[in-house]
Amino acid sequence: MVSSLDGFIAKKDRSVSWLRSTDNYEKGITLNEEDVEEFIKTINCYVMGSRTYEHALELGWPYGAVPVIVLTHRELTTDRENVEFYSGDLAKLVNDNLKPIYRNIWLVGGAMIAKDFILLKLADDIIISIMPVILGDGILFFDYIRQEQLLHLKDVVAYKDGMVELWYEIKKE
Ligand SMILES: NC(=O)c1ccc[n+]([C@@H]2O[C@H](COP(=O)([O-])OP(=O)(O)OC[C@H]3O[C@@H](n4cnc5c(N)ncnc54)[C@H](OP(=O)(O)O)[C@@H]3O)[C@@H](O)[C@H]2O)c1
Repeated sequence: MVSSLDGFIAKKDRSVSWLRSTDNYEKGITLNEEDVEEFIKTINCYVMGSRTYEHALELGWPYGAVPVIVLTHRELTTDRENVEFYSGDLAKLVNDNLKPIYRNIWLVGGAMIAKDFILLKLADDIIISIMPVILGDGILFFDYIRQEQLLHLKDVVAYKDGMVELWYEIKKE
């Protein structure tokens, strides 16, 4: 999840220019295209809420032919062979349908789905990339999750463009 410093993952008008930073942090690292491609190759399946899916269709489909599960209560249709719609029990989706087939399941978001996965203890890790911006309004990542959850910090990476990536493991106990 990419977030502003004040915890927003999307602006009210859904514009995404804030996701590109012109900041310059001298000690930060730069990712090259090959690193990004290698990382993306490790993802076996994407899961996302219908609002995130519809936004991705508007912005330009970035998921290629990797299987994508879209959560919706509506009767949505698609011509894409790798897109499947799902409604209902999230634990059943993850434990019965996805885990036996896919090793690395990437929960794209948005906030609604991410919160449910954390509350239901269906997520193993949280990777949050904080952009150097305060948005002031929009969709909050953690909108009163109302449940304490201990985390283990696995990694921190600071990038040249001022983005800081925090990688947490969700403690199961
Ligand atoms: N900054 C980032 O890294 C990042 C990442 C992801 C998304 N985003 C942004 O976040 C925004 C969307 O986030 P959001 O929190 O508003 O919405 P969302 O989580 O993408 O989608 C919510 C929708 O998912 C469906 N849903 C949720 N639980 C379900 C269940 N158990 N069974 C069936 N359907 C279920 C419902 O769809 P129906 O209404 O169709 O029933 C619900 O309205 C977009 O602007 C997107 O671009 C940002």
